[in-house]
Amino acid sequence: MKHIFITGGAGFIGSAFVRLILAERPQWHITNFDALTYAGNLDNLDGVDAARHRFVRGDIANREAVLAALDTDTAAIINFAAESHVDRSIMSADEFLRTNIIGTQVLLDAARAKNVKRFVQVSTDEVMGSLPEDDAAFFTEDSPFAPNSPYAASKAAAEHVVRAAHHTHHLDTVTTRCGNNYGARQFPEKLIPLLITNAMNDESVPVYGDGQNVRDWIYVDDHARGILAALERGASGATYCFGAREPRRNIEIVRSILASLGKPESLITYVTDRKGHDRRYAIDSTRAETELGWRPLETWESGIAKTIRWYADNAKWIERVRDGAYQAYYQQQYGAPSRAPTL
Ligand code: NAD
Ligand code: TYD
Repeated sequence: MKHIFITGGAGFIGSAFVRLILAERPQWHITNFDALTYAGNLDNLDGVDAARHRFVRGDIANREAVLAALDTDTAAIINFAAESHVDRSIMSADEFLRTNIIGTQVLLDAARAKNVKRFVQVSTDEVMGSLPEDDAAFFTEDSPFAPNSPYAASKAAAEHVVRAAHHTHHLDTVTTRCGNNYGARQFPEKLIPLLITNAMNDESVPVYGDGQNVRDWIYVDDHARGILAALERGASGATYCFGAREPRRNIEIVRSILASLGKPESLITYVTDRKGHDRRYAIDSTRAETELGWRPLETWESGIAKTIRWYADNAKWIERVRDGAYQAYYQQQYGAPSRAPTL
């Protein structure tokens, strides 16, 4: 039996990773440590095998809580827990610095205190900033740090404290950097689930700026398999970039998803651009492919079809996450409720 400690496992990517481990590593069991912020949701863990999955509600920035939950037999910590939405970091950065930086340092200290063998930091391509609009430019593990949003800056700082723990204390660490994920159970503040859930309700779909920004999209289960490969086969101290070579302009995505849902393009509303909006992300995952033997299994077409189907089949999940707090966020971000109040 191998015991792993996952943080943020009630969120979008963390819960996909929990499912992957329970399905593909029958000898492993999981402690899932999550604060259940607005983005964490126990519904995301519906149906997981309780015999091999222990959920602990707790804050990664709370040292005592982490030490109390972390058993000495833990083989690895995989740190998904984060404040993860760029627009919220523009409204207020405090929680991003606390969770993403202090929380990561607390976990690193706890890993050393409890002799945890390996530490995996789940990071993002956004630490490398924005690429020029030149199809030949890609992020690699050697691209310089150039974070542009408070979110990206906090994730870059987290990478630095992980690097320092490896260099100074010889902690066995691996860092993964991934592009934009999409798939089931993503909170509808991010572009794709916001677009699907709004359009399904015939609500307008906000597109920032000119809609020409490019993101490199990867299906969440492919990212989860990449993290598992990095955990099992990554070199100590190394960083691995994951992307599916599926770059798309935002407006292309919006149009194609509206078409798949049978909804009119008149739902598209161009809104004021995000402050400091990164223009283009694109990832070269050659290192992950050659050193880890990883490759994505889904194409954009197959992944987005599964994603749309999941949202169509999970109206209850959508209804619960689009609660009062979500409506308040939506009002603050977009200046209008996502839906008219029911009279
Ligand atoms: P998410 O916002 O859906 O989930 C984050 C989870 O962390 C939630 O369950 C939340 O409750 C938990 N959490 C937040 N603060 C916490 C704290 N202080 N203590 C304990 N738990 C806390 O995020 P996600 O999209 O699943 O992203 C997971 C990780 O992957 C993040 O580290 C993010 O930076 C990284 N990442 C995300 C993407 C993407 O496209 N979503 C791409 C690359 C990397
Ligand atoms: P998002 O899903 O927030 O991911 P990230 O900012 O981490 O890349 O946004 C993806 C792209 O979609 C980004 O260019 C911003 C844009 N976007 C919109 O145009 N409208 C929206 O309402 C949102 C949330 C994002």
